[in-house]
Amino acid sequence: MGRNLIFHIFRYQPKNPESQPHLEAFHLEETDGMTLFIVLNRILEEQDSTLQFDFCCRAGMCGSCAVLINGHPDLACHTKTSDLPEEITLMPLPVFDLVGDLSVDKGGWFRKMNKRIESWIHTDKTFDPNAPEERMENRKAVEIYELERCIECGCCVAACGNSDSRPDFLGPVALNRMARFLIDPRDHRREQDFFDVVETGKGVFGCLEGVDLDYVCPKKLPLKDQVGMMIRKKGGKVGCGPAIWK
Ligand code: SF4
Ligand code: FES
Repeated sequence: MGRNLIFHIFRYQPKNPESQPHLEAFHLEETDGMTLFIVLNRILEEQDSTLQFDFCCRAGMCGSCAVLINGHPDLACHTKTSDLPEEITLMPLPVFDLVGDLSVDKGGWFRKMNKRIESWIHTDKTFDPNAPEERMENRKAVEIYELERCIECGCCVAACGNSDSRPDFLGPVALNRMARFLIDPRDHRREQDFFDVVETGKGVFGCLEGVDLDYVCPKKLPLKDQVGMMIRKKGGKVGCGPAIWK
């Protein structure tokens, strides 16, 4: 017989004037290989069909199921209950607008962020759909791929106290995104064009280095390296690891 697990789950419907934020307790017996994704779906199917949460791929690929698990942001679908104590508190990610219960609007936040940093390749070349694909040096393609692995789960944003207290702060995921385009040889922006966006208090100089970002990121992106490199390039001091910017 498995452990009796108690889940304290945040409940609140912000559009319903009668709804009040509170934690609701649900009990489930632990089964082999149980993940929080399974837990939430079992509660939905067996105990409360109104429980709201996000998921899509259940394979750690879409980023939609991120929640605060006993205060730590992580993906519900790749978190096993066997790695957690018997009492588990699940809260929605902070920073993002709450849709209801554990569901937040990450799409809106990421859309605004991507527009703000112009997160696309800037080039004067006219696109020719019939032209063969341009070749890229293998090492460079791997470097770009490394930073491109972000699944926009929002864990790094939720873990960042600065993002929580300052809506204008770009946040670690935006800085990583800038680094990805800076090293892309197809992007014709000058280095200073990138720094015009990030070298302010709303960008790298707003970073307080309060959390271990690489530990928080479920895809283990080298976020600390990107922030550290930008600060070092602009003459600041930071205790981060090696950078991979050009
Ligand atoms: S950088 Fe990592 S933690 Fe941040 S949104 Fe992307 S995958 Fe999630
Ligand atoms: S459901 Fe897609 S990452 Fe968890």
